[in-house]
Amino acid sequence: AALAALGAHAADFPKEKPITIVVPFAAGGPTDKVARDLAQALEKPLGQSVIIDNAAGAGSSIGTAKVARAAPDGYTLLVNHIGMATMPALYRKLPFKIETDFEYLGIINDVPMTLIGKPSLPANNYKELAAWIDANKGKVNLGNAGLGAASHLCGLLFQSALKTEMQTVPYKGTAPAITDLIGGQIDLLCDQTTNTKAQIDGKKVKAFGVTTRKRLTTPGLSDLPTLDEAGLKGFEVTIWHGLYAPKGTPPDVLHKLNNALKAALKDPAFIKREEDLGAVVASDKRIEPAEHKAFVEAEIAKWGPVIKAAGVYAD
Ligand code: MLT
Repeated sequence: AALAALGAHAADFPKEKPITIVVPFAAGGPTDKVARDLAQALEKPLGQSVIIDNAAGAGSSIGTAKVARAAPDGYTLLVNHIGMATMPALYRKLPFKIETDFEYLGIINDVPMTLIGKPSLPANNYKELAAWIDANKGKVNLGNAGLGAASHLCGLLFQSALKTEMQTVPYKGTAPAITDLIGGQIDLLCDQTTNTKAQIDGKKVKAFGVTTRKRLTTPGLSDLPTLDEAGLKGFEVTIWHGLYAPKGTPPDVLHKLNNALKAALKDPAFIKREEDLGAVVASDKRIEPAEHKAFVEAEIAKWGPVIKAAGVYAD
């Protein structure tokens, strides 16, 4: 009877109630922005409202755990980023296993990062920044959104490329982090263009470079050098976001959600909002669940050794 009920329940999905997307970072940051834009684009194909639940903390592991243990009925989903590939190496004890506790619904986008500084930082290009960091060894305050955050991974790569240690200041997301950077409470932040472009355009922060191998074509960001050309040879990190459901969500519910995601990623308004902020919306191939899962597993294999080499653990 229970199975029949589940079957019937799945058949009329998602008529029962609004769908909740859990965002494992503070409101207003890059993860939240992608999720809210996606939620809006999903409502039409799903014919149901989609609401956001910010469950921040511990570099996205708190919100991710919330979805791992949610009812597998399709009404609770997760939007998270590269943290799904770095948490396994950063946390000795995670209350979930990335590879087995989630259904993979597809990649959403790829977002470049920018290295930005407080307005009063006495450096106007990457070369001057590197000199300033060298002159202030051990005293530079680098913000991030906790271990498991994209900003943490970029900061880790940056410190090991410069062979220097910085004071890292964790926030519940890079929205509060960038506020403190603008206020001068921290010196540096590596954050996604979806969050930094407005502040760079408004000259509220200093921008030293982008983390992609090729310069961006986005107006307002196209004159920023890549960190590779600015002197950090080979420096590259791009942040991807994916959509997930708890393991055990019925296949026909997953199919409806994946179809809705494909429709949302073709929504011209969604694409424009993403591209105006420097993001690239995922192509059809990457929205296939099998492709998404294989990509995350490859990213776990790629970033695990990098994090282990840095000897960093969150717990
Ligand atoms: C990150 O650094 O992981 C994200 O920017 C955090 C956020 O979305 O606030």
